[in-house]
Amino acid sequence: MNQADAQATDRRAVLITGARAGIGAACARWFAARAWQVIGVDIDAPALPDDLAGEHTGVVGSVTGDETWNRVAEHIEKSGHTLRAVVNNAAHQPELPLLDTSVEEFSAVLHTNVVGMFRAIKLADRLLACDGAIVNMASILGLTADPVLGAYCVSKGAVVQLTRTAALAFADRGIRVNAVCPGAVRTPLTTRVWDLAEDPQAARAQMERLYPAGRIAEPEDIAAIVGMLASGESRAMTGSLVVADGGLTATNAEFALTGGLV
Ligand SMILES: NC(=O)c1ccc[n+]([C@@H]2O[C@H](COP(=O)([O-])OP(=O)(O)OC[C@H]3O[C@@H](n4cnc5c(N)ncnc54)[C@H](O)[C@@H]3O)[C@@H](O)[C@H]2O)c1
Repeated sequence: MNQADAQATDRRAVLITGARAGIGAACARWFAARAWQVIGVDIDAPALPDDLAGEHTGVVGSVTGDETWNRVAEHIEKSGHTLRAVVNNAAHQPELPLLDTSVEEFSAVLHTNVVGMFRAIKLADRLLACDGAIVNMASILGLTADPVLGAYCVSKGAVVQLTRTAALAFADRGIRVNAVCPGAVRTPLTTRVWDLAEDPQAARAQMERLYPAGRIAEPEDIAAIVGMLASGESRAMTGSLVVADGGLTATNAEFALTGGLV
């Protein structure tokens, strides 16, 4: 590595929303372990996992608020770091069938999951380095529907299209925009559902049986894909969706009904 490359590595920063818990925290650790400076944004203080809070920057606030983004921009401009990647990960997932969802609840989900992401894209327009990368956290629920997560599914479908349209908008600058579509990942979002069941172990096993890979992904599995999409290793990709669901959407209803046994 020559001196200029070494300096670029020293000063490169990644912005991660929802960096305090789950997949966002795993992403923050992935980048920190590879000498990136992490800027976390989260409603939950300190907006980073505890083990990173000292050496990295947490901005406590909602992705929906102007004030949050003003503070993020101010930090980037003053820090002298070069913003080279943005990971749009924060989301709100209320369990509500579509027709039981009020207009206010529906708007709130879209406001956080889509408009919040668009705000980060506007910041990237101003501050992301040419050749930088944006990685959006979509979901297989942006490609398929779920009866109890009505507004959430709609929001993740919008994330898919935001990814494609942003990929076109940034293409001439060499900035790539891709999305990850995970299936179930072992984070508080999914473990909460198991914990509410009478037998949490059985609830987990039941979910795992639906996945051909026979396991629920770990947050670190998804972070590794995000890292790949943020790095030059994926330079041929923009506007792409990377499905990371242990084969769930490769199956049909027969697999689910037979538990994969034929
Ligand atoms: N866990 C899964 O099974 C799964 C599957 C597919 C997609 N996803 C997606 O992955 C992403 C992360 O999910 P997770 O499971 O790690 O969730 P999580 O609930 O464990 O963590 C989400 C983090 O985002 C923060 N956050 C929520 N609203 C925010 C806001 N308005 N502003 C700033 N921060 C906010 C939370 O405080 C939390 O730290 C989400 O986009 C989710 O839709 C998760």
